[in-house]
Amino acid sequence: MRIPIMSGNWKMYKTPAETTAFFAKFRPLVEKSSHCEIVICPPFTNLDAAVAAVKGSNIRVGAQNIGWAKEGAFTGEISGPMILAVGASHAIIGHSERRQYFNETDETVLKRTQAALEFGLTPIVCVGELLADRESGHTEAVLAAQFQKGIAGLTEQQFAKIVIAYEPVWAIGTGKTATPEIAADTHRAIRAQVRGKFGKDAADSVRILYGGSVKPDNARILMAQPEIDGVLVGGAALDPVSFASIVNF
Ligand code: 13P
Repeated sequence: MRIPIMSGNWKMYKTPAETTAFFAKFRPLVEKSSHCEIVICPPFTNLDAAVAAVKGSNIRVGAQNIGWAKEGAFTGEISGPMILAVGASHAIIGHSERRQYFNETDETVLKRTQAALEFGLTPIVCVGELLADRESGHTEAVLAAQFQKGIAGLTEQQFAKIVIAYEPVWAIGTGKTATPEIAADTHRAIRAQVRGKFGKDAADSVRILYGGSVKPDNARILMAQPEIDGVLVGGAALDPVSFASIVNF
């Protein structure tokens, strides 16, 4: 039984005051939502406010990135121990926007994932193909390469603690959702990669989230796919009512 994870990625939106206001509205809407885990990933500057606002609730807080070192001369980076110290429990790693604009590679994704695990955070590792990859029939090859160069470098014990997010880049912020069938097919392909490298038990238990234009009106049909173990929501996670309706699909 894979417990769904309904997660939100706020990207570069909201101040601490806006974070507090979000949770004041959101918390009561999901207080009975025991069917899933709920994780919200605000910008680093709001982690403190988010952790304070969710105290005593079923909501967890995550970062949107994590430095691979414990500490050191890495201007602009935030380390695992720092994220943990503020009370967050998860970290998104390898989001396509980081790959596209900030030179994130499969190699650095692996280093960040190892760091998250070393410091006791749950990594949500993102993979996904570009529109050109999908149109040229290369989706599975691209995902296989991301897998092989990235998370395949983990040990079995490490792999057992991660969450994978499949986010087709052409579906992010575009209003184009992958159809439930496309998403489920692709999740199956990713699970096959996992099986090949880490075995059947790992493949059966790893949670694979879908991300890309998830909205209140398509969450239910996506979540109806047995292959889809939750969602990673961008735009629609910024509004408490709309994200609560996704959580309670
Ligand atoms: P949207 O839900 O805005 O398409 O963003 C998806 C995403 O990138 C989540 O990480």
